[in-house]
Amino acid sequence: MRSSRGARKLAQAAYRSRQCCCARRMEVSDWTQELRRTCQKRVMKEHEDFLSTRDYSRICALVYAEAGIHLGTGKKTMLEARVKRRLKALQIESYKEYCDFVFDNQEGRKELPHLIDVVTTNKTDFFREPGHFDFLASRALPELMSRNRLGRPLTVWSAGCSSGEEPYTLAIVLSEYGENHPGFRFRILATDICSTVLNKADRGVYTKEVVSPIPAPLKRKYLLRSRDPGSNLVRVTPELRRTVEFRQLNFMDDDYRVTEPVDAIFCRNVIIYFDRPTQERILRKLARCLAPSGYLFVGHSETLHDMDLPVLPVAPALYRRIED
Ligand SMILES: C[S@@+](CC[C@H](N)C(=O)[O-])C[C@H]1O[C@@H](n2cnc3c(N)ncnc32)[C@H](O)[C@@H]1O
Repeated sequence: MRSSRGARKLAQAAYRSRQCCCARRMEVSDWTQELRRTCQKRVMKEHEDFLSTRDYSRICALVYAEAGIHLGTGKKTMLEARVKRRLKALQIESYKEYCDFVFDNQEGRKELPHLIDVVTTNKTDFFREPGHFDFLASRALPELMSRNRLGRPLTVWSAGCSSGEEPYTLAIVLSEYGENHPGFRFRILATDICSTVLNKADRGVYTKEVVSPIPAPLKRKYLLRSRDPGSNLVRVTPELRRTVEFRQLNFMDDDYRVTEPVDAIFCRNVIIYFDRPTQERILRKLARCLAPSGYLFVGHSETLHDMDLPVLPVAPALYRRIED
């Protein structure tokens, strides 16, 4: 009798547990189905949401007119990925809505600098294309200094300076040169169109990975470690930062507002983003800012071949202003 009551209780418990499991399985399967439906909707939405050909062309034309940057065909996916950052920042749902805002709205004009910020490519490095810095220290500086009897500081311009790695490399090279040449004075002008990178450059804070191309003795001399021992950040010393003047400048501007003659311009890995007529126009304006016999450094993948400019080639990716 006892054992049959026990067996009944066990059977009832097993039945309840099975019911419970079924209910849970139902809940789980409902939930997973719902999740699958949501994911499908999202994938469909993402799939549906792309820049139309018309909007892609409109953005390309605007970026070209404002910044000279030639996106051309085949950059649509890249542009979508970059513009998406603006959609997120503005909490705008679709590319169409974003383009309506940029093109059909008075307020849209204010969006232009942000759009230019996201379309620029800012890749850079400390001591990038290091042969140029060797040339500057071992050949150009001694020669320029022997000529430079003007009593003015030597001026070097990092044109398209991105987040500051190039001008700070120049500052290190020139400071080192100055240590062995008493009386040597210099100033560095660093310009870019993009305000985000300029703010970063001005702060002069970098991760340890980013400063890894700087030789160790120079790191010890020109970089400050954080007080927090766990921090991965270093900062350019205030003395070095003071040698660089950062300024916003768009190469499409008529007047570059550079009044002092410049002894060397580093405009490297910049003109690659412009079409040939724009490259030539910009380089002519830059060459005008050079002192006679001043140097123009461009990126190793850039060439001035067949351009009508007042410069002569002297080494790979290096030109010199023709004397007046
Ligand atoms: C790839 S980075 C080159 C940085 C550095 N010169 C180097 O070689 O490492 C190109 C820079 O050119 C700037 N740039 C693009 N269009 C410009 C324009 N119209 N006026 C001024 N700077 C521009 C970008 O914002 C970007 O920071």
